Amino acid sequence: MRPPPALALAALCLLALPAAAAAAYFGLTGREVLTPFPGLGTAAPAQGGAHLKQCDLLKLSRRQKQLCRREPGLAETLQDAAHLSLLECQFQFRHERWNCSLEGRTGLLKRGFKETAFLYAVSSAALTHTLARACSAGRMERCTCDDSPGLESRQAWQWGVCGDNLKYSTKFLNNFLGPKRGSKDLRARADAHNTHVGIKAVKSGLRTTCKCHGVSGSCAVRTCWRQLSPFRETGQVLKLRYDSAVKVSSATNEALGRLELWAPARPGSPTKGPAPRPGDLVYMEDSPSFCRPSKYSPGTAGRVCSREASCSSLCCGRGYDTQSRLVAFSCHCQVQWCCYVECQQCVQEELVYTCKH
Ligand SMILES: *[C@@H]1O[C@H](CO)[C@@H](O)[C@H](O)[C@H]1NC(C)=O
Repeated sequence: MRPPPALALAALCLLALPAAAAAAYFGLTGREVLTPFPGLGTAAPAQGGAHLKQCDLLKLSRRQKQLCRREPGLAETLQDAAHLSLLECQFQFRHERWNCSLEGRTGLLKRGFKETAFLYAVSSAALTHTLARACSAGRMERCTCDDSPGLESRQAWQWGVCGDNLKYSTKFLNNFLGPKRGSKDLRARADAHNTHVGIKAVKSGLRTTCKCHGVSGSCAVRTCWRQLSPFRETGQVLKLRYDSAVKVSSATNEALGRLELWAPARPGSPTKGPAPRPGDLVYMEDSPSFCRPSKYSPGTAGRVCSREASCSSLCCGRGYDTQSRLVAFSCHCQVQWCCYVECQQCVQEELVYTCKH
């Protein structure tokens, strides 16, 4: 059975696991250079056969594979997007019990948890973002700079500024995910909704930047272009949406003859609750605690926590171990004339807290 289109997309983040497992997730800025994985691709668009092969290696539905084969550069973009979504997920969940470690635990993608909702949204956001950037960076054959009207973009081209092509990437993604599926199934409705929350989050981060040209700031010529905000900001937006995600059930709208999502009614109210807003992430099932190893997470044993902030919640009441370790750092630094800084090495004891088993 072929996976539903949106599931195939969310499953993209699984492709990224080997690289991400190696990547330390601390200190990410969201501006990381995305490197394709060894053995799976090259930085430059692959030629002919190589490109087709890359498409075949991706976990895609048959239709998506066809679209991939038709568009040189897309396989690399999909891999970059997969990597980006996983890194961002791990960054945003670094202090949560579920830390987005998906390795061997993909059961979550088939459920209706808040975490599932986030994965769908961050995957579609990463693909929208990465594709729009790939267009403007000239890595795709079928798209280039943002050419939406009203932006003097042709003029911008003249000046060598190329806007991120969100229009193309959104259109592509809608096609890639396939026509809106039958509305009979609550899961499918929720997945599609969350996927679009991701796309919208990227769209809302689009900024117009202008630059003046002319004799000493006279601004005789002004060029403007549109640029996406760093993906870290989109990740933050989506994490906030996760924190305030709306639990939904469904009801058939008799007039329209299709299934609609509804928040549950308030206690004591006979009517169903309001429909979720377009920007809300929606979920159907309460999440497990993620405290103990399960098919959804490795549990929190061994997680490093902060004694003040996170140990009590992260360790689920099991307590934590304290270890001391010595860390070296630069100290007593002095500027030497001219022109370098001379430092000594100092050693400091630092306590590390980890959740008990
Ligand atoms: C998530 O937590 C598990 C332990 O519970 C750990 O093994 C894994 O490395 C963590 N993943 C990330 C990305 O931090």
